Amino acid sequence: MQNKTILITGATNGIGLETARGLARQGAHLVLVGRDTAKSERIVADLKADTHNEKIDLLIADLSVQAAIRALAAQVLARYPRLDVLVNNAGGVFDPRTTTADGIETTWAVNHLAYFLLTNLLLERLKASTPARVVSVSSAAHMGGSLRIEDPEYKNGGYTSFGAYSQSKLANVLFTVELARRLAGTGVTANSLHPGFVRTGFGTRTMGWLSPIVSVVTRLGMRADQGAATSIYLASSPDVEGVSGRYFSEKKPARVSAQAQDADLARRLWALSEKQCGIE
Ligand SMILES: NC(=O)c1ccc[n+]([C@@H]2O[C@H](COP(=O)([O-])OP(=O)(O)OC[C@H]3O[C@@H](n4cnc5c(N)ncnc54)[C@H](OP(=O)(O)O)[C@@H]3O)[C@@H](O)[C@H]2O)c1
Repeated sequence: MQNKTILITGATNGIGLETARGLARQGAHLVLVGRDTAKSERIVADLKADTHNEKIDLLIADLSVQAAIRALAAQVLARYPRLDVLVNNAGGVFDPRTTTADGIETTWAVNHLAYFLLTNLLLERLKASTPARVVSVSSAAHMGGSLRIEDPEYKNGGYTSFGAYSQSKLANVLFTVELARRLAGTGVTANSLHPGFVRTGFGTRTMGWLSPIVSVVTRLGMRADQGAATSIYLASSPDVEGVSGRYFSEKKPARVSAQAQDADLARRLWALSEKQCGIE
């Protein structure tokens, strides 16, 4: 991965951090996205010391805010003439329902719209850097998800943290399917993945009174470096050169839910997401 430039969101904790560590060890030039400057600078210093790779840059953005995503993309386009791999990883589960500074339900904004908007803003640069890859971290939780295409933000009530989370992870799979269809023949591939049940910070600070319980339950998960294996595989392995539109688990293609195979639903999600992000 010596001459590859890889952008990773949510690289300051859990699976994203270990994805960064694994790809840094392979010699890639990393552009990490964090949201807390002090924490992110500490992480980058630790990663450089641990991996002996000095080519690790840091950009700061709160991915719940569309203006911040636009500013992030502008910095990437200004600073990096190549972008070989984009890893959409930052995400979370939130209880109770909250909205972002843009007034969008937080799970939908961070887990789906941020993937959608950042990818679209960087797409021309990826196309100019072929062969290039978009890797989106989804979850097996998408299996329990149902896309509420008329009300994905639960504006009309009925919000549950698991419902909103599993819907957003289904959106990651559908987004990948439609992105791959649109990118056919361009040399840019798009795949999504389930990382496994992983011991991370996931849900340990964002689930209200349930957070301490989530903290105990997640201790049963695999280590974060094990959870990063499929992300690293999709970002770097020659085995998946040219493979696109697929969903992986344990570094192998895996089954998706019935809704996740609905190409018409994927197109409708794309149109809705364009509208919500204000892009054509
Ligand atoms: N853990 C699991 O078992 C599991 C299973 C299936 C799928 N996943 C998926 O794996 C991905 C990574 O999750 P994780 O388990 O590694 O969780 P984590 O330890 O909580 O890490 C989440 C990362 O996302 C960042 N982030 C969250 N909200 C953000 C925002 N608004 N703006 C910018 N960055 C933001 C966090 O930044 P800070 O460091 O500043 O908090 C952190 O770096 C998620 O997409 C999740 O859905 C996880």
